[in-house]
Amino acid sequence: METEIVRVNPERPEDNSEGIVLCGKIIRKGGLVAFPTETVYGLGANALDGSAVADIFRAKKRPQDNPLIVHICNFDNLDLVADFTGEEGERQKKMFMKMAEAFWPGPLTMIVNKAAGIPDEVSCGLGTVGIRMPSNKVARALIKESGVPIAAPSANSSGKPSPTKFSHVYDDMFGKIDCIIDGGDSSVGVESTVLDLAGSAEPTILRPGAVTRSDVEAVLGCCAECDWKASEGKVEKPRSPGMKYRHYAPKAPVIMYSGARSPVASRIRSEIIIAKNSGKTVGVLATDETICYYKDADFVKSLGPSDRGLVQAGRLFSLLREFDADCVDIILAEAVSESGVGDAVMNRLFRAAGGRIITVSDKISE
Ligand code: TXA
Ligand code: MG
Repeated sequence: METEIVRVNPERPEDNSEGIVLCGKIIRKGGLVAFPTETVYGLGANALDGSAVADIFRAKKRPQDNPLIVHICNFDNLDLVADFTGEEGERQKKMFMKMAEAFWPGPLTMIVNKAAGIPDEVSCGLGTVGIRMPSNKVARALIKESGVPIAAPSANSSGKPSPTKFSHVYDDMFGKIDCIIDGGDSSVGVESTVLDLAGSAEPTILRPGAVTRSDVEAVLGCCAECDWKASEGKVEKPRSPGMKYRHYAPKAPVIMYSGARSPVASRIRSEIIIAKNSGKTVGVLATDETICYYKDADFVKSLGPSDRGLVQAGRLFSLLREFDADCVDIILAEAVSESGVGDAVMNRLFRAAGGRIITVSDKISE
């Protein structure tokens, strides 16, 4: 398939209005357009067109039971996506509107009851739907021009790290979809927080992101969070289907080490020697403070300062893809602080590692 590339100034998408008009047309006709958002690039289709949405699954090789998030740019089409009728609908809508006021447009997805017009291809048979209003100007221009809500997962091949740059999308999707918008880098770098308002009485974070648990608590008064470490690979039917798949994974196995800085550094240093002695090319994922410890590794990359979760989030997926390009055989990664958005960074790292986390001076816990 021929893939069109449309270059757009991230700050001034209106400068290439022809390009945006073209992309809107492709969406309306049932085609696929990859576009930047502030979290990661998305792979979009008309959310009301089941067969267009089915093409997303084919292009990504995405498992059929993993539902998609629907993106909107204002509240005009909300009734086409959400069902806020009845007592339960009212309850959800109250929380939904409060959260929207506080965090939209932005990196927050809310799960609510779905409207009848949302096809099964989007919701994968669930009675609910995830909705997000992105802040990225290019994403907003595209949704507005399309005139329909846009269903979009991250624009990576399923299982690979999510794309935060045009080049990542190009590598995974060129030749498989109608169009890729080259609209700069994603600023947040990890996918949106997924907040379930439909499940039980308490709003629950199913996937951590830049909107944190305490952010939600500040607005709604309470918030639960799924224990993603406990559920890794073990739950057949988690509340968020996406959580059961190995994800965000570079080609090489990732092993994560947690514990105090100095024992972790010595442990990783000895693992470097062991791996190199058996002929392996070794990559290490460290922080600015610890990068100096790992001179023996073939490739050492820093996520950023150890206390800057947002910087780490912005770099994580890109660095995992760089290790692929370096052809390393193994990636040894330091665990990072789980406070604030660090929770999201650790969640993605943990899943890239397939749950292989070693608490230093402890044994592997799967
Ligand atoms: O930041 C983001 O959310 C990006 C950008 C493109 O908006 N999108 C994204 O989509 O990360 P995706 O498909 O890669 O991840 C969506 C996650 C999956 O874990 C999926 O299982 C969950 O949201 N999800 C979607 N709809 C759901 C529903 N109705 N109930 C529970 N989980 C749902
Ligand atoms: Mg994804």
